[in-house]
Amino acid sequence: MEKSIVLENVNFGYDKKILNNVNLEINKGDFIGIIGANGAGKSTLLKIIIGQLKANSGKVKILENNSRDKSIGYLKQMNIEVGVSFPITPLEIVTLNLYGQMGFMKISNKKIRSRAFNALSMVDLKDKAYYNYNNMSGGEQQRVLIAKELVKNSKILIFDEPTAGIDKDSKELLFNILEHLNRKHNITIIIVTHELEFSKKYFNRILELRNGVLKDYSEVNTW
Ligand SMILES: Nc1ncnc2c1ncn2[C@@H]1O[C@H](COP(=O)(O)OP(=O)(O)O)[C@@H](O)[C@H]1O
Ligand SMILES: [Mg+2]
Repeated sequence: MEKSIVLENVNFGYDKKILNNVNLEINKGDFIGIIGANGAGKSTLLKIIIGQLKANSGKVKILENNSRDKSIGYLKQMNIEVGVSFPITPLEIVTLNLYGQMGFMKISNKKIRSRAFNALSMVDLKDKAYYNYNNMSGGEQQRVLIAKELVKNSKILIFDEPTAGIDKDSKELLFNILEHLNRKHNITIIIVTHELEFSKKYFNRILELRNGVLKDYSEVNTW
């Protein structure tokens, strides 16, 4: 199995300890659910993985693409952007991220458009490329933000409670799209979720964070 992310003896605390010697090996193509009580440290764990927070000790290795910036797409908790006060289209949102990635590199407008459209079609929103983002449903906005991550050629997608605040149909659609990205595009996916009953059928592995310790959910009964 090719590894995607490896954590070795990761410790982290703000004032009190949050992660206690966390070890984790994620394989390429995994579709992982992470559960745990409020305040268990799930969001903190994701931020350590993407490099937004630095572990107090231990190692975090991102092995896909060898580049943290390019390889990880991350949607933080409650990131539906409320109150964007000007009209903006999904195509523009996705394209902005592409310019950000390319920086000074020369890339034709035509190529940018085709990559943006490609990302939008991966989340089934090609037909709404020119809609007003502000008038789209929460589920659709979520998918636009996924496309914005995908356009960077992310091979890993990490979501912090992506289904909070969206209706059941949108949830199902979202997970079906993620399943498609996982299976057909071999994208490694990690999702923190409160909704295990709904989502467990999609995951190939479920982890629970409890008292700073991360364990496979199947082992949790033996704690
Ligand atoms: N920036 C911070 N400074 C201090 N404590 C924090 C900070 N962020 C989170 N915490 C605390 O760390 C614990 C874990 O938080 P978090 O990772 O958000 O948990 P979860 O996502 O599992 O609900 C909580 O007790 C929270 O209050
Ligand atoms: Mg959280």
